[in-house]
Amino acid sequence: MEDHFSRQINYLRIAITDRCNLRCRYCMPAAGVPLKGHDDILRLEEIVTLARAAMRIGINRIRLTGGEPLVRKNVVTLVRELAKLPTLKEISLTTNGTFLAGLAAALKEAGLSRVNISLDTLQKDRYRYITRRGNIASVWQGIRAALAVGLTPVKINVVVARGFNDDEILDFARLAMEEPLHIRFIELMPIGAAAASGCSFLPMAEIKGRIEAVYPLEPLTDLATNGPAVNFRVAGGRGSIGFISAISEHFCNRCNRLRLTADGKLRPCLYWDGEIDIKGALRAGATEEELASIFARAVSLKPAEHHMERGWRQARVMSQIGG
Ligand code: GTP
Ligand code: 5AD
Ligand code: SF4
Repeated sequence: MEDHFSRQINYLRIAITDRCNLRCRYCMPAAGVPLKGHDDILRLEEIVTLARAAMRIGINRIRLTGGEPLVRKNVVTLVRELAKLPTLKEISLTTNGTFLAGLAAALKEAGLSRVNISLDTLQKDRYRYITRRGNIASVWQGIRAALAVGLTPVKINVVVARGFNDDEILDFARLAMEEPLHIRFIELMPIGAAAASGCSFLPMAEIKGRIEAVYPLEPLTDLATNGPAVNFRVAGGRGSIGFISAISEHFCNRCNRLRLTADGKLRPCLYWDGEIDIKGALRAGATEEELASIFARAVSLKPAEHHMERGWRQARVMSQIGG
């Protein structure tokens, strides 16, 4: 369906849990964030019911996020049920990759199309430092498994911050030369623990400039994508590169999405704390048509643009919103 700013809204990001096994410094404090109680989180059948209602307003692509979606039990069953929705064109997943190796084949068989995997460093010790608990070897096993079973294109999400991992920009670009991976550099957004962690913003023009000085980039248009990334082929490379410039060149005019939080709220915008409760109506017995009208209301409330450049004012961190 079209919103008030002539944008077609066809993409729903569903956070299926607010839990995460990692504690990335820019995302969360070491102690984590307060978690919702079991009863506050949507049950898997409820997620499927809401997804079905969303189809009625023209949603035809779904991405599962979290927290870390693979910590949720029965995620494979959820994918299998969602894949049965007749008008759904694609189900994708954004994960930190640490549990992917053991699940990749089952997810593919259940109907998952592709995965985006977060990896902000190629260095073992730095990975441990950034995530406070992760093991980089498990992420690489996940990446290899995703490639092997065809959850492709496999995209690697790299949040770049100055003095944090910006010395690895060219290492990641080299990875796009050597492996069939799509590497996406993401500007740090003023959401979550990033300010407290001492991470500082690095504009995309600088990131791109450093890469282009070494690797010529050519526009790439035939990559499976629903998101805001601008994509390039690296001359002679097996993979490709994308840029998500959430702050310096914001892409709100191309926004196509709604978010459903793990506790059953619809968020018209990543950076706007206005949320619409849909779980309440669902549990009160609303019909599919009534639920679809709540999705339509969320679309009608989408703001024209965010104002992240004005700074930090987010009530929820990324793991609570779904990224
Ligand atoms: P593709 O379909 O593969 O293009 O996925 P995607 O880019 O939509 O999904 P992913 O979960 O990998 O998101 C990558 C990054 O983009 C994350 O850091 C998100 O927080 C950010 N992002 C996703 N949607 C939005 C949005 O609506 N606004 C802003 N500012 N950032 C977003
Ligand atoms: N800015 C940019 N990206 C972030 N993510 C988490 N917090 C931030 C932030 N403050 C990313 C994760 C993951 C995606 C879902 O969101 O690294 O790739
Ligand atoms: Fe977990 Fe993702 Fe937040 Fe890291 S960025 S702590 S992997 S939700």
